[in-house]
Amino acid sequence: MKSNIQQIESWFERYTRSFLTGDPERDKNYRVKIDHSQRVCAGIVELGKSMKVNENDADMAWIAGLLHDVGRFEQLSRYGTFIDFLSENHAVLGVKILREEAVLEDLDPEARDIILKAVAHHNRPKLPEDMGGKCQLCCRILRDADKLDILGNMFEVNESGDSKLEGSVAMALPDLPEISKDAYQDLVEGRIVDASHIRTRNDLKLLHMGWVYDLNFDYTLRSVKEKGYLQNIKGNLPQTEQVELVYNTVRRHLERKVSGRRSSSRKQQS
Ligand SMILES: [Fe+2]
Repeated sequence: MKSNIQQIESWFERYTRSFLTGDPERDKNYRVKIDHSQRVCAGIVELGKSMKVNENDADMAWIAGLLHDVGRFEQLSRYGTFIDFLSENHAVLGVKILREEAVLEDLDPEARDIILKAVAHHNRPKLPEDMGGKCQLCCRILRDADKLDILGNMFEVNESGDSKLEGSVAMALPDLPEISKDAYQDLVEGRIVDASHIRTRNDLKLLHMGWVYDLNFDYTLRSVKEKGYLQNIKGNLPQTEQVELVYNTVRRHLERKVSGRRSSSRKQQS
């Protein structure tokens, strides 16, 4: 698949460059997505190594990582926003573009199908239960790497105060001090926050916190724990009892998953 990867990478560079105007202010948001896609690929390499996935699965996940947000470019150019509910689903748009441009034409049909499914499902709240093993692995790797990069990016934004909110979901939400009851309830009951429960910017922060419930792999869970992403989000929420409770619930879940996985891998080794 290595020669295919080179071709696909060249297409990605050509395609994304075609949106750049040379005006740094206008190009900024496109560059955010180019950089994000490349970092997701780097994350996928690390994740793949930690799990010792075979070369073919690692390559498919890498391609899916590079292409997962391809719909963002057309979305921003056509609608001037990254907000799906004000424009269209960027994952579905991405699949349409990849098909129209025949980007995956030279891959074998199984790999093509898996990569397109991974792109299509990367932003869904849940994966379908009946998804096949190889496809599920690719989707899960992409979803973990995507979330990990977004959490890392939020961390940097929170630390530096350098907000890149323009055209983002956060900008469309009111910056109110409260958190919504339904978003709070989702997290204390151990679920990711339902998109329909997000009403304020703080709810969006809760959504990010709750991604811990949807992380699949030890590498990702450990990274979130070690880098202190949950504490960072909490530090940017109002210091209330509700926030404290939500934070402790999610943190305990993370601790349990990390230590549970450690002891099960120790058992396997012995
Ligand atoms: Fe995306």
